[in-house]
Amino acid sequence: MPVEIPSDAPHSLADRKGRIAKKLRISVTDRCNFACLFCMPDREKIRWLPQEDILSFDEIERVTRVLASLGIEKIRITGGEPLLRRNLERLIQSLRRLHGIRTIDMTTNGWFLSEKADSLRSAGLRGVTVSLHSLRRERFSKISGIDALERVLHGIDEAIRVGLDPVKVNSVAIRGYNDDEILDLIEFARQKELSIRFIEFMPLDGLGIWNPDSMVSGAEILAKARSRYEMVPNGRESGDTATLWKFPDGIGELGVITPMTDPFCDACDRVRLTSDGKLLSCLFDTEYHDLKPIIRNGGSDDELSEYILQSVWKKPDGVGYMPWVKQAWPKPRNMDAIGG
Ligand code: 5AD
Ligand code: SF4
Repeated sequence: MPVEIPSDAPHSLADRKGRIAKKLRISVTDRCNFACLFCMPDREKIRWLPQEDILSFDEIERVTRVLASLGIEKIRITGGEPLLRRNLERLIQSLRRLHGIRTIDMTTNGWFLSEKADSLRSAGLRGVTVSLHSLRRERFSKISGIDALERVLHGIDEAIRVGLDPVKVNSVAIRGYNDDEILDLIEFARQKELSIRFIEFMPLDGLGIWNPDSMVSGAEILAKARSRYEMVPNGRESGDTATLWKFPDGIGELGVITPMTDPFCDACDRVRLTSDGKLLSCLFDTEYHDLKPIIRNGGSDDELSEYILQSVWKKPDGVGYMPWVKQAWPKPRNMDAIGG
């Protein structure tokens, strides 16, 4: 249904609140070889999307080209696990060439990183963010559903060695699972001279284990960090999700991502493309904007562009304006289907 974008609205990816999208997250597959308990549903209940619904590289490139013409500058490739998609280097190469695209980064579980880091770098990938929720082997398996700690750590080392930059680590702290490892994870990041970001557990989990108590807040993480380190605030860049802290010796960095306790929606500059071609203007949006019918039924770039503009215009105000998100009901969808 067409929406009324005022005729004087700028011809860019603006929404009703005046936010302008500059970043695009592309989920290249819904599949994952991990099963993190805050993400995937029960293994038996997982239903992967049929192959024919997944956008081809050419289709992703086309949508991205149109989005770049509307002002998108930065891309993050996500999944599921993006490196499960064969020849991802080819997609990166083609996106890299698009006019207006300045950087391409990736969020990965790290499983394939040791073998792929080099070719990804050569293809034009800038940096990687690797998810790492525990440094203890048994616990890693319990949280991520696979005995992969060693392999992921090796992947991080390889990413650094081949010169991917920045290499960052993402951790979701969950009470009773890994909240006693916050200091260890920070120390790990400092040893590797990396940035570590703790993300507040969001009610987007497939198992439905989220509850307000299971979430460890950014404030709590900072309090823990302060118990050992002197912390120097480094702010939050407009549009960024992480509030950053440095250490007096300048080694490593700590970030807290607080979608639940201190949402950053007012400055949000992101849109998402799901692996099956839906545009999401917000992680918590309940409305999908399906681009596939336009792409696959001979629609023109102008039609695609118009539809995208209208979809972004309707971007929800944000999670801070959705009290039901905190109550975790109704649950919009699982993270694995969107790609963080
Ligand atoms: N809450 C917070 N973070 C999540 N992630 C996956 N599911 C959730 C959730 N329910 C994280 C992943 C990855 C990042 C993109 O999002 O671990 O690091
Ligand atoms: Fe896979 Fe990432 Fe979800 Fe874990 S959080 S199951 S690694 S998609």
